[in-house]
Amino acid sequence: MCGIVGYIGPRQAAELLLEGLRRLEYRGYDSSGIAVVNGHGLKVMKAAGKLSMLEQQIGDRMPSGTLGIGHTRWATHGAPTTPNAHPHTDQSGRIAIIHNGIIENSTSIRKALEARGHTFKSETDTEVLAHLVGEFYQGDLEDAVAQALRDVDGAYGLAFISADEPGVLVAARKGSPLLVGVGENEWFVASDASPLLQHTRSVVYLDDGELVVLTRDGYRVRNLQSTRISKPVNQIDWDLAMVERNGYPHFMLKEICEQPESLCNTLRGHLLDDEGTSRVHGLNLSDDELKQVGRIVITACGTSWHSGLIGEYMLEEMARVPVEVEYASEFRYRNPVVDHRTLVIGISQSGETADTLAAIREAKRRGARTVGLVNVVGSTIAREVDGGIYLHAGPEVGVASTKAFTSQVAALALVTLRVARLRNLSILQGRQFIEALRRLPEQISEILDRTSEIEALADRFLKTTSNALYLGRGVNFPVALEGALKLKEISYIHAEGYPAAEMKHGPIALIDENMPVVFIAPRDAVHSKIVSNIEEVKARGGKVIALINAGDTEIERLADATFAIPETLDLLTPILTSIPLQLLSYYVAVARGCNVDQPRNLAKSVTVE
Ligand code: F6R
Repeated sequence: MCGIVGYIGPRQAAELLLEGLRRLEYRGYDSSGIAVVNGHGLKVMKAAGKLSMLEQQIGDRMPSGTLGIGHTRWATHGAPTTPNAHPHTDQSGRIAIIHNGIIENSTSIRKALEARGHTFKSETDTEVLAHLVGEFYQGDLEDAVAQALRDVDGAYGLAFISADEPGVLVAARKGSPLLVGVGENEWFVASDASPLLQHTRSVVYLDDGELVVLTRDGYRVRNLQSTRISKPVNQIDWDLAMVERNGYPHFMLKEICEQPESLCNTLRGHLLDDEGTSRVHGLNLSDDELKQVGRIVITACGTSWHSGLIGEYMLEEMARVPVEVEYASEFRYRNPVVDHRTLVIGISQSGETADTLAAIREAKRRGARTVGLVNVVGSTIAREVDGGIYLHAGPEVGVASTKAFTSQVAALALVTLRVARLRNLSILQGRQFIEALRRLPEQISEILDRTSEIEALADRFLKTTSNALYLGRGVNFPVALEGALKLKEISYIHAEGYPAAEMKHGPIALIDENMPVVFIAPRDAVHSKIVSNIEEVKARGGKVIALINAGDTEIERLADATFAIPETLDLLTPILTSIPLQLLSYYVAVARGCNVDQPRNLAKSVTVE
């Protein structure tokens, strides 16, 4: 949510910033802008809309200067207009600022500043902060920023430059991610690693309350009270190729197709075939501690919450531990009952989702053990939990989450296997589970070899519809929710996911000949029940598209169209059934001419609550 990049070094900043913004655009695409300082002052250029609008505006008038900041915006305060685009400047126009987050007390600060004669050009909270820093400025940007931030409530990842200090960039973090890229005689700040990979893989992760000063000689980190902080330099193991489209028309399709490999990477090194269990040392929980867990609470948002629901089915069925799955945004603000015997699992692709992070902090405050299933190495959630498993799915750039979802389910399967084997699962059952897990990547490839079938289904049933229903039962009910979410977010078709049997209690009223109904109906323990649900939809004229296992003639006879997925254990079917649904939404969105990788109003990594 909002991308930030800053540069100081010997090279021209503007081009580097624009290239960085191209990689950050998935974090927000309401507007963008850059500010560059050179010996003659500060040059700010910004435009509403996608980055291409800014590039058009700049044309061949690239501002010169070797110090600069750039921003791509996901609007919070104020509409996505050019005046509201970042960078913002102070009253003098000599200090520029970019911001990711929300300044909660901006209204009162703004009023006080207005009373002192300040005038504002935008409706943003960020411009208020720029003016506040300007008021404190007496020739030392670092000092002015530190003073201003002491008066500010809210969340921020910030970067500042001043026309009067062409060799200084100041950045600060509280609640929104920020890291420093350490290059050869050049330094960067960014909200995530993607704009840095081309230049360096050495990074310093800032923590909340920290401020970094970058100069032409290096960087130093301190807190708002001026205490120096020594920080380790970490090496990122992602490379540039991983954040490029590599010939695919969209990141989303690339990431869907990467799933055989991403799933292997999630499982790699964790499976102990002989013992029929998993190795999950990263959880930092001994076998005794795992045995003593009385209850598990899984907390997450969006797609990650859906994977958590699948985890609930797996953990309760196999490990017989009571599990609750909570929206992080709800959990954090109620009075959740958790204690030292509760294991709280936070699931997050980005590791930065504000609500999930806050839920984990709340659980920790109440004495629970926390673990994270996180994709982005070094992210805030990964650093704050007591233990966890990295997904190793590789960077996910498409705004709609795909490969991270299947990797989350796989990571939950690893946790389940370990806990279940410590309780009641036999070695033989454990080995069967591992065998099934190991087969999944190849089975996903089999599905991906038949994408044209899904494309045809998208064209025939969903391309022109206004509504769709996704129905599943048992462990495939969360897959129905996820399938509907994928369709909504990238093709803007209204879709609902429901437990198939619940349909009779309301949604059945929606069914007529115009309603496509996607059933997730592998041959599992509830197969006969879902067949009845299909009959109910057909009796009312609904169009049924069913995901089945090959040879299911009963459903083939009933449904308008079917797509067969390979057989696996019931609890692992979501990893296979979710793939055709990802493809279905992808092809529908493409057919409707939607911007698949940058759906309207959305942004990857939701760092505001
Ligand atoms: C949907 C999607 C979102 C995220 C949610 C949580 O395709 O991507 O629903 O799943 O914003 O994000 P993370 O997993 O980064 O915490």
